[in-house]
Amino acid sequence: MRHAVAALIASSLTLFADFAVLAAEKTTPEAMFEQRIMPIFKSPNPSSCVQCHLAGVDIKNYILPSAEKTFRSMRDQGLIDLKSPADSKILKLIEMGQKDPKAPAIHANNRKAELEAFTAWIKACAADKTLSESPKLAEAEQAKPPVPDAVIRHARKDRLLESFERNIWAMRFRCMNCHTEGTPANDKYRKQFGDRVAWVRKGGSGETMNFLLESKLIDVKTPENSLLIQKPLNAVKHEGGLKFAVGDQAHKSFRQWVEDVAAIKSNAYQKVADLPPVVKSPRAFGTELWLKVGNTPPAWGDKLLQVDVHARTADGKGWEKTPIASTDRIVFGKGSMWQHTLTLFAEPGSDLAKKWANGKPFLPRGTYLLKAYVDANGRLKKDWKSPLTDKDFVGQVEITADWREGYGAMTAADGRQFRK
Ligand code: HEC
Ligand code: HEC
Repeated sequence: MRHAVAALIASSLTLFADFAVLAAEKTTPEAMFEQRIMPIFKSPNPSSCVQCHLAGVDIKNYILPSAEKTFRSMRDQGLIDLKSPADSKILKLIEMGQKDPKAPAIHANNRKAELEAFTAWIKACAADKTLSESPKLAEAEQAKPPVPDAVIRHARKDRLLESFERNIWAMRFRCMNCHTEGTPANDKYRKQFGDRVAWVRKGGSGETMNFLLESKLIDVKTPENSLLIQKPLNAVKHEGGLKFAVGDQAHKSFRQWVEDVAAIKSNAYQKVADLPPVVKSPRAFGTELWLKVGNTPPAWGDKLLQVDVHARTADGKGWEKTPIASTDRIVFGKGSMWQHTLTLFAEPGSDLAKKWANGKPFLPRGTYLLKAYVDANGRLKKDWKSPLTDKDFVGQVEITADWREGYGAMTAADGRQFRK
């Protein structure tokens, strides 16, 4: 009898122990990893990180097939805070996207799943002494993004937006009359050609960039074939006509930006040396200030002419070294004339840049020096990256100008008066 009771107690104890094992199994870091982290690792869909990182980093980069090694790898890279699991850096990285409430819901859904999974798993890991005290993982075994931080930084959407604003948004004046969503001209074209003509979004630069990144207007494999480049060149028939010449300022800007997008999206940047050089370009402001040069010399005919506008130095004695404005276009040879809208320049962060960014960019009335450069041998047609330099200088002239706005109020110079 005594034996029977003892046996009963013993068996119920074992039963109890079994339950405990079962319950524990559900919450082991290992099991949690399998149930919640592995699906993220194996998912063919990009993680929430792509909301801001176009390339270079994904949460999958930090995950290894083994739960234990993933933990050690993350811990050794400082991504896990064992004392205060909720403050772990990996959770902060996942939470970063919350700052942008306008982001598409898909990112928010992914983020929620990632955050819950990593929070629970890290907590379980921190509570597991064997795991938390496990030896360091060899650095070669650590899981991390395949590219250096500089590349991750370059492929960030906010960085790309900066260059979008410099390169494309500043030049949008050449396109916006026809392409801005919601304007009368665009509404008319939309009826005729469909929604595709509305690629300049009324929401501004960020919305327009996002639209373009998702559109078919950028060809990632062969960026030079992108419609965003081919249409304004009229290389693919463009209802809006010829807007760029190969190698001109607008074409260079658009092409540079599109090439960069293509390189980012195709993971062409692997090391710092692959990144495009950082150019310290001024901030550019498109305007409706027209500059016309009449009586252009025959030698300039049908060539790309660039005219830089230099302001007086503060002491009134000389001319500023760097131009305050510039524009370029092919000279209309038959008509011996050339005309185009000016792009104004200001040092990034300067008072002038702030003033022009907040109000309407303008040039004050006064005397200015116009310097002309001609691509005499069609060099830029063969090499769009090539700049016009002092070697292409064909002459200069002083003018007094009001710089009134609009096609009907052009500032004019006489081509015969340009002197070397
Ligand atoms: C809302 C935008 C946003 C989201 C979403 C986002 N990040 Fe970031 N990330 C940034 C910004 C901005 C920086 C630069 C922060 C800084 O320099 O302080 C950054 C920096 C980083 C860095 C450091 C690289 C460097 O520049 O030194 C890494 C690594 C990183 N993020 C990984 C991730 C991972 C992994 C995810 C997804 C889990 C993620 N990020 C989600 C915006 C974001
Ligand atoms: C005078 C009006 C006008 C101007 C200015 C204009 N376009 Fe267009 N563009 C159109 C029209 C109309 C279409 C639709 C018909 C077509 O594809 O040619 C179009 C089509 C396009 C398309 C193809 C859109 C698509 O989804 O298929 C691109 C890209 C484009 N233009 C780029 C530009 C760029 C860049 C500029 C400025 C440098 C510009 N356009 C200036 C009228 C204009």
